[in-house]
Amino acid sequence: MTDNTPVGLHPIETASRDEISTLQLQRLQWSLSHAYRNVAQYRKKFDEAGVHPNDLKQLSDLAKFPLTDKRDLRDNYPYGMFAVPMDEVVRIHASSGTTGKPTVVGYTQKDIDMWSDLMARSIHAAGGRRDDIVLVSYGYGLFTGGLGAHYGAERLGAAVIPIGGGQTEKQVQLILDFEPTIIMVTPSYMLVIAEEMARQGVDPRTCSLKLGMHGAEPWTNAMRAEIETVFDCDAVDLYGLSEVLGPGVACECVETKDGLTIWEDHFYPEVIDPISGAPLPDGDLGELVFTSLSKQAMPMVRYRTRDLTRLLPGTARSMRRMAKVTGRSDDMLIIRGVNVFPSQIEELILKHPELTPVYQLHLAKDGPMDKLDVYAEVRTELLDKVGRLGMENLGKTLKHNIKSYVGVSCDVHVVEEGKVERTLIGKAKRVVDNRQK
Ligand code: DLL
Repeated sequence: MTDNTPVGLHPIETASRDEISTLQLQRLQWSLSHAYRNVAQYRKKFDEAGVHPNDLKQLSDLAKFPLTDKRDLRDNYPYGMFAVPMDEVVRIHASSGTTGKPTVVGYTQKDIDMWSDLMARSIHAAGGRRDDIVLVSYGYGLFTGGLGAHYGAERLGAAVIPIGGGQTEKQVQLILDFEPTIIMVTPSYMLVIAEEMARQGVDPRTCSLKLGMHGAEPWTNAMRAEIETVFDCDAVDLYGLSEVLGPGVACECVETKDGLTIWEDHFYPEVIDPISGAPLPDGDLGELVFTSLSKQAMPMVRYRTRDLTRLLPGTARSMRRMAKVTGRSDDMLIIRGVNVFPSQIEELILKHPELTPVYQLHLAKDGPMDKLDVYAEVRTELLDKVGRLGMENLGKTLKHNIKSYVGVSCDVHVVEEGKVERTLIGKAKRVVDNRQK
């Protein structure tokens, strides 16, 4: 590795491309054989595709290996994708699956150390230092945001205030009293905090925050400009997903703010054509795919993130960057930072025999926050039996179940059969997303 590494940077951040590729090849060979030896699903898929870890002679050989997606995790729920015995697993997280069952992920102590190192590296790249005070306003719990950010900030040596998500008034009070210099929170909630400050007569520009690390949902450079102006701070993009790690897979460097540096010493990125699955050259827009290079508990081989982006050459660091995520290749919605598949809500609706399978999700902005309205229909033949009161109660039950099982607040409107819009071919339009308007 290079000798002239700037203070605070890991040598790999400024290593030559050759050094990075050499390390990647060596780690990739280990990761593929670890997955093949210890996870029945990988062994089966590799065998079916007629490939063996020994076939990986150069990085481009990775394209011969099968892709992995949420279905593989779902079919092996909960622990079937783990590559180590449970006595080596020290943490379990989960995120939304396409159906009611979540996607489960596990970590060994070494995985947690790697994650903490990468989050510390991310905070450092964003401009954070050990004398900072970090308000972690990502949710704690099964979601990886809170604990991922927390361990990284501690690893950096900063002081952590683990407030978690929600309680906006308290967030403002703690910002004013505890004077954090960094906040880690979804970009939309950052603007809700600004509104609450305005309501209390506080000018966000005068508060202690000098850096915001925002992610877990898509956001634009226009939103960055707004946050930076309103708070007079730097706002950088932080990316990750639980199946691959959690937050800290990639992060923007504050000096360039030109897309997210991928920590390529631990994750090998590819961009593929979402339809054919063929790898695309760097620079082309497609679906981001990651292979973990060092993870023990749950190695991921060519995991389809469904996030649409492009790979770009390094600038502030030697490692490649990913452009801001511009959308997804599946129907997953991110509502207030919570991943939601329409099929999860469908499953809850279908539990009620009084309701038709036709429903619609309406998304809009309520200030900076997302608002979800769910429309469901009562079957005509049961309308009299159910009655107005019954419809209201069905709505209340669904609202409660959607909050409990999917994790998102919404309003549910139970209407008469035929009231939910259908397209010409009679197929229901599931999602009306007016958030960009
Ligand atoms: O959202 C991890 C995370 C927490 C990242 C905090 C950043 C900050 P999941 O719940 O598994 O993990 O959701 C992963 O969220 O595939 C993207 O679609 C979306 N996402 C995450 N970060 C960004 C970002 C966490 N910076 C899914 N920009 C991913 C756009 C993002 N989308």
